[in-house]
Formats: sequence, C-alpha cells, structure tokens
Amino acid sequence: MLAITRLDLLLSGLAVRRTDGTWLEKNDWFAYLSGRAGRTNFVLRGLPPGDYDRLQFNIGVPPDLNHAAPAKLEERHPLNPMVNGMHWNWQGGYVFLALEGRFTPLASATAGSQNQSASGFSWHLATDRLLMNVEVPVTLALSGERAADRRTTLRVALELAQVFDGIILDDETSSTHSRPEDRLADKLRQRVEQAFLPGQRADTAGPVEKLVTPLTAQSGPVVGTPYRFTMSAAFPKPALPRDNPLTMEGVALGRRLFNDPLLSRGGKQSCASCHQMQAGTVDAGKAFSVGVDGQPGKRNAMPLYNLAWKSEFFWDGRAKSLRQQALMPIQDELEMHETLANVVGKLKAAGGAESYHEVFAWAFGSSDITAERVGLALEQFLLTLTSHDAKFDRVMRREALFTAEEQRGFELFHTEHDPRRGLFGADCFHCHGGPLFQNVAFANNGLDHEPRDLGRYLATGREGDRGKFAVPSLRNVELTAPYMHDGRFATLEEAVFHYVRGVRHSPTLDPNLAKHPPGGVRLPPEDVRALVAFLRTLTEESLRPGARNVALAPSP
Ligand code: HEC
Ligand code: HEC
Repeated sequence: MLAITRLDLLLSGLAVRRTDGTWLEKNDWFAYLSGRAGRTNFVLRGLPPGDYDRLQFNIGVPPDLNHAAPAKLEERHPLNPMVNGMHWNWQGGYVFLALEGRFTPLASATAGSQNQSASGFSWHLATDRLLMNVEVPVTLALSGERAADRRTTLRVALELAQVFDGIILDDETSSTHSRPEDRLADKLRQRVEQAFLPGQRADTAGPVEKLVTPLTAQSGPVVGTPYRFTMSAAFPKPALPRDNPLTMEGVALGRRLFNDPLLSRGGKQSCASCHQMQAGTVDAGKAFSVGVDGQPGKRNAMPLYNLAWKSEFFWDGRAKSLRQQALMPIQDELEMHETLANVVGKLKAAGGAESYHEVFAWAFGSSDITAERVGLALEQFLLTLTSHDAKFDRVMRREALFTAEEQRGFELFHTEHDPRRGLFGADCFHCHGGPLFQNVAFANNGLDHEPRDLGRYLATGREGDRGKFAVPSLRNVELTAPYMHDGRFATLEEAVFHYVRGVRHSPTLDPNLAKHPPGGVRLPPEDVRALVAFLRTLTEESLRPGARNVALAPSP
C-alpha cells in the first residue's frame, strides 16, 4: 500500500528555447504547486511571439533568495511562507519539494500480520545543493496573427511512479532531509529531474483566463483613522481583509463588543468570559467552558493571538473568515445562545456615555447597527491581537540568551528524529515550525486510535480528515492549559510527553509522526523537561496574569 498525502513544489527560473536554439529566461518567475491546495498549474504571461521547443525550470529557489528574509515579499507572492508553508526553518531556507505519504512495509505486508501498522515517509528536499533543474521537450507555437492574445495550455506531468522506481519503501527510506551524506536525497533529486514528461497539448481560453484574473481591490470611501497593525519583522506579511480595513474606530468598537455581555442571552456572558485577556485569551484552566444555559461545550476554548495569519477558524476550520466566525458563538446554544436579531435590538437600545449608534457611525460612516457590522468590528479587533515579543524573539534578535536547558529544548524542537541517522530530536517543527509556531494546517497528532471527536472531518466530510485538528500555535502555550482540543492534558509536561510515548496509530495519523518508533520519539525525561523549558520561552511577558497590557485591556 502506498498513499501520497502531500506533494508540494516551489519552482523558479523558467526558460523556454526558441526553435533557433536561443533561450529566453524569466528569472523573476516563481510558482508554488501543491496537490493539497489544488494548485496544480501556473500561468505564464508575456512570452513574445515565436516557436519554442523546450521548457526549463528549477525545482527550488536560487541560493540568494533561499537565504534572504521572506518578510518583505508581497502577501500573495508564491514564495511568501504564508502562501506555500514551505519555509519552516529558523536558519532560513525553503523546502524545495515535499513529498509525504504512508506505506505498508513490505515485511509486515507479506507476513500478513493482523496488526500491521502503516508507516509514514516524509521526504523534504531542500538546501542549495539540491536545487533541481528540469528540462522538458514541448511544442509551443506562438507565431502568426493574433499571437499576442492567444492562450495556450501546455501540460507537463510529474510521473510519480518514476520517482519511486527502484526505491523500496522501508524504515531506511522513511525520511530524508537533504543532509550532505544523505544518499536518498541525491537519488530522489535525480529521479525527480527525470520524472517530468510532456503531456498532450491543448489550446484553451477559458481556464487560463480565470487564473490570470487579477485580484480586485475593494473600492469605496475610507472611513475612520487607519490602525497601525504591528507584527514582528520575522513574520510573513498577513493577508488582511481588503474590504474591512482596520481603523482605530472599528477596532475600538470591536473591543467593546467583545467585552459586552449584551451579546448573550440573559446578558451575563461576553466573548471575554471564555477568552479572558488576563488568562492567555482562554477560559482559565477549564477543559470545557460553560455556556449561558449552564451546559458545557464540546471543545477547549482556543487562544486568539495571531489570527491574522489563519484563514480557517475553530479546531475543525469550519469558519472561513473571522467575521463569519465571530457571529457563531453568539448563536451557539452551548455558548451565548442568542439570536442576531436580538443582539442588534439590544445594541440599538443600549445607553451609555456613547451610544452604539454613535460608535457604529464612527466605525462605518453611518449609524446603522447590523449583524454584519457586528461581525466586521469583531473581525477588526481580533486581527489586532498579535503576539511576537517573547523571550524567544529577543533571543533571535540577540537581545537575550537561552539558558542551557532552553537551548537544548530549542535544538530538540527543531531537530528530526531519525535514529538510523543518529538524530534524536523531537521533530516538532514540521507542524509547529516557523515564527508563528504553527503551519496553518490540520493534522492528526495521534491522540486516539478511534477519535471520539472527528474534528476536521465534520467540516469537510472527507475520510482522510478524520481525527485531524488545527495545528495550534505554541506561542504563549504556557498560559493556555489544559491542552489539546478536548483539554485532556492538564500540564505542558503531559502534552509534550504525548509525543514521547503516547502517539497512537490510525489511518490518518500524520506521516511526520507515523514514521517514528511506536509510541513516539522516546526521549529521556531530561529532554522532555528541556522541551518544556523551551516552550516557556514562547510566552509574551505582557500577557502573563497580572501584567499590564494596554493592547488587551478591556475598553473602559
Ligand atoms: C462559552 C465559551 C465561549 C464564548 C462565550 C466564546 N468563545 Fe470563542 N471559542 C470557544 C471555544 C470552545 C472555541 C473552540 C470551538 C471549536 O473549535 O469548535 C472557540 C474558538 C474561537 C475562535 C477560533 C480561534 C482559532 O484559532 O481558530 C475565535 C476567533 C473565537 N472563539 C472568538 C470568539 C468571539 C469573537 C466570541 C464572542 C462573540 C467568542 N469567541 C465567544 C469558547 C467561547
Ligand atoms: C504532525 C503534526 C504535529 C507534530 C509533528 C507535533 N504536533 Fe503538537 N500538535 C499538533 C496538533 C494537530 C495539535 C492539536 C491536536 C488536538 O488538539 O487534537 C497539537 C497540539 C500540541 C500542543 C497543545 C497545544 C494546545 O494549545 O492545546 C502542544 C503543547 C504540542 N502540540 C507540542 C508539540 C511538541 C513539543 C511537538 C514535538 C515533540 C509536537 N507538538 C509535534 C500537531 C503536531
């Protein structure tokens, strides 16, 4: 059995050869292709008329870009880490090609053993040495009349069978991360370079046309004073909503709504009741919060930092925007259990020094109070909750030093676990890597053989999503106990220990964990302590209970 769960590539340096043998190079061209994200093609524009017979490109990015800080890239650029999720390394650098999947080892398949468990492989080719160069013969005729507005689709296929040819999947081949002595990486590089084949050629206008539609910026009068969104220089640029620009007035309204119990039936619970600003924006210590009717919810409250970098919300990602998300707890019968019509009615009637009519007018240009505007204002406020100034960040800026134990934890966190190659790390960075300490994805981290809560599956209905949950950011994790979607672990030590001994196999267990020895990475107790010590360096001091924090303080 072999199942591919991920195929992601970064492409650069495109060139086409004219039939007269001269090459036309496009060095500023980049693309991110991903089977998971459905990005299986790219658009090339502005080729001069002519006849071309060869196509060349690199898989990977050239060294100068590979080592440059990606923070300056425009938010939708294919090399922006938020777009591609392929830049997870503090030392800098992109993954050029990621190929992951699950397989049944030959030995256990032939032995026919009952409890044969599938294993996982994760191949990540990176490092300058492994920049791949692909050349494919093509037939591309862009000459003649109307050549300029002619659209041509060229199909080029990656033959996966050719990549796997001659590689026997076993424990030896379960991972590669392109270290110099890694022979599998070298072999894969050659295989991949040879595995691109020309496909049939077709001329079309429709689909390509769609792909090149430029993003339309929202127009309309600007209301309010622009809000200065702050983030770390090490973070990628987030895609803030263009149709809901942050303004001081909008954010202030959102903050007031967030703290107002009028949003709930009975008027006793606000968003802040379960997302307490003085308790890491979660419901201090509770596995399940209790709603207005006295009933517990089904999942652990989530922290609200750095939401600007997420595009799907809740543990299962069922909300596609913050404005949509923000109206859901209001109506949830296990939470605030109120109707939007009632909320709007109550806001209209509310008195106070400044009526909501006035505040809505400052934020949106007119005094209409609508549910949609409640969502937009809450979205603005939620987007401003960033966290990027923990001890970790100061260490990265060389303004502070890790203790020896924290340093050990940092290294374990960012090192693979591959005993055969003498690597005994904790392998956390695959999912919790990068400056946000999350990869903005959903994964099954092996909590159960049979998940009681089906997680992501409930939002997508896809079998492959059973038991997957949003990978949480580990920033401020010290403040957000208990842990996991159901709050099953009371302490950080227990949560970390899960990865050491407690990982359970199931068909959707992430390949990055399935490749480990049964149970997990089997680290000694002092390493678990070091990991916890490192995780504590991700706490933003100003968010600790009792610390003074202007940004998060409720409005007066
Ligand atoms: C009764 C407790 C409770 C109340 C009240 C509450 N929340 Fe939550 N919040 C939760 C829980 C529990 C989750 C996770 C639920 C899930 O995944 O199904 C959550 C998740 C979220 C998320 C998703 C974060 C992410 O990373 O995906 C956001 C945003 C959020 N809440 C904002 C709000 C806002 C805004 C309000 C007020 C309108 C609010 N919450 C009221 C308990 C609460
Ligand atoms: C395959 C991806 C993956 C890997 C690798 C991984 N995690 Fe996780 N981690 C997750 C997911 C998904 C969750 C949430 C699971 C849930 O609640 O169902 C999570 C949750 C956590 C939590 C709880 C956070 C919270 O707010 O509840 C901690 C702590 C944690 N991981 C630490 C680690 C450490 C330390 C490592 C390395 C030893 C690690 N993780 C490796 C995917 C991963």
